[in-house]
Amino acid sequence: MSDAATLILGDASYRFPILEGTEGERAIDIRTLRAKSGCITLDPGYANTGSCESAITFIDGERGILRYRGIPIEQFEQAPNFVEVAWLLIFGHLPSPQEYEAFAADLTACANLDEGMKHHFEGFPRSAPPMAILSAMINALSCFHPELFELEDADRFRVAAARLISKIRTIAAYAYRHSRGLPYIYPHPELRYVPNFLHMMFSQPYAQHVCDPVVRDAVNLVLLLHADHEQNCSTSTVRMVGSSQANLFASCAAGVCALWGPLHGGANVAVLEMLEQIHHGHLSPEEYVRLAKDKDSKVRLMGFGHRVYKSFDPRARMLANVAERLLPQLGVRDPLLQIARRLEEIALEDPYFVERKLYPNVDFYSGIILRAIGIPTNMFTVMFAIGRLPGWIAHWWEQAQTSGNKIARPRQIYVGPLETDRVPLSERGELGTA
Ligand code: SDX
Repeated sequence: MSDAATLILGDASYRFPILEGTEGERAIDIRTLRAKSGCITLDPGYANTGSCESAITFIDGERGILRYRGIPIEQFEQAPNFVEVAWLLIFGHLPSPQEYEAFAADLTACANLDEGMKHHFEGFPRSAPPMAILSAMINALSCFHPELFELEDADRFRVAAARLISKIRTIAAYAYRHSRGLPYIYPHPELRYVPNFLHMMFSQPYAQHVCDPVVRDAVNLVLLLHADHEQNCSTSTVRMVGSSQANLFASCAAGVCALWGPLHGGANVAVLEMLEQIHHGHLSPEEYVRLAKDKDSKVRLMGFGHRVYKSFDPRARMLANVAERLLPQLGVRDPLLQIARRLEEIALEDPYFVERKLYPNVDFYSGIILRAIGIPTNMFTVMFAIGRLPGWIAHWWEQAQTSGNKIARPRQIYVGPLETDRVPLSERGELGTA
C-alpha cells in the first residue's frame, strides 16, 4: 500500500505521508495540510482523528483486544495487582521485585494528607458530589507539594506520581466519610494499596476493617481494568491540559471532571440507576430496551456501546465474571445482576444493537461489583478515577517527554455573522440591534 495520500482540491493536488503503527494502524499525517492547502479538516468528536502517537495502550475495537504495554489484560486476571499495572503503564515495563516493593512501600508511606487539607473537606456540604471534591482536592494537593509543580527529571516525576496515586485513595475515602458524618480514618502504615483504601473507607475508630482476600482481589482487578484506555475523553483532556505545560495535579484534576460525564465514567452510576429503575418495577427489561431504541425517548441503554469497541469490550466480559464469582462468595444475592444479564441477552439479539455493534462496555457490570463490596453508588465514578489515574499520569508524562510537543489548539469552521458594527446602546431595539 502507498506510503503517501494524495488530496485533490480543485485543480491542485497535495501529498501527505502515511504513518503506520506497530499494529498496522495507518494515519494520514496532515500536520502541513493548512499551510499547503489553506484547508483544515472537521471531525466533531474526533472519531477519525488521531491526536498523538503513544506506546502505552493498544485497543483493537473490531477484535475486542486491550493490551497494556503489549500485555493482554486477560493476563492480569490471576493474582490481580493494580500497583504493578500502574508501574507498567507509567514506567513502560513490569516492575522488578525490587522496583515493585519500593514503589508499594512508597505508596504506603505517603498515603497521609497534610492535616491542613482536612479542613477543606469540612467546607463541603455533606451532599457534595464526591467527584467535585475529588477534582478540587487533587488540585489542592499541589498547594501542599509546590516542589512538584516542576517535574524536570524522572526522579521528581516518580515522587509526584506516587503521591498522586497514593493520596487519591485517601481523598476518596475522606470524601465518603465526610458525606456520612463519620470520623476520618488515617491510612494504616502496614496495609497495601487496596486493603488500606478499604480500611480508610470502612474502619471505625475502634474497629479496624478486615479486608477479605476475595474483595481485595476483586477491587484490584476492577481498578486495573480501568487503568488506561488510550485516548478516551478524560485521558485526552489530561493531555490537552498538560500540553499547555500545566502541572500534573492540575491536568489530572481536569481528567476527573471529564470522566464525571454520564457518557464517560459517569455511566457506571447511570447503569445502576437504570437497573434500580427496572428492579423497582417502573419498567421491564424489554420495555427499557424498547425505550433505548426510540430516538425520541432520549433514553440510552447505559453501559452499552463504545466509540472504539465494535465487538465485546473485553473488560465487560471480565467484570461480568468477577460479579458472577464474587457475589456468591460474599453471600450477596443482588437481583440487579440478573436484570443486567437479561438486558444483555435481549440487546445482543436485537437488530438495533447488533446492526450498530453495541455491546456491554466497562461500565455495565462494574457497579454491581462495587455495590456488593459496600461502596455507595455516588462513589462509583470516583472508583473509576482511582483506577484511571495511572493511565492519566502515564499519558501526561509520555507527552511531556515528547520532543517538540506543541500546545493542543484545534481550529474551527466559523459560522457566525459577517463583519458588522457596534450599535450605540441608546439606538438599540429589543434584540440589541439598531
Ligand atoms: C467509557 O472512550 C473510551 O475508551 C471510554 C471508556 C474508557 O475506558 O475510558 O471505555 C469508558 O466511557 C465507556 C462508555 C460509557 N458510556 C455509556 O455507557 C453511555 C451509553 N453509551 C453511549 O452513549 C455511546 O455508546 C457512547 C457515548 C459510549 C459512544 O458514542 P458514539 O461513539 O458517539 O456513538 P453514537 O452516540 O454516535 O451512537 C451511534 C448510534 C446512534 O444511533 P443512530 O444515530 O446511528 O441511529 O448508536 C446509538 C446511537 O443512538 N447508540 C445507542 C447507545 N449507544 C449508541 N442507542 C442506545 N443505547 C446506547 N447505549
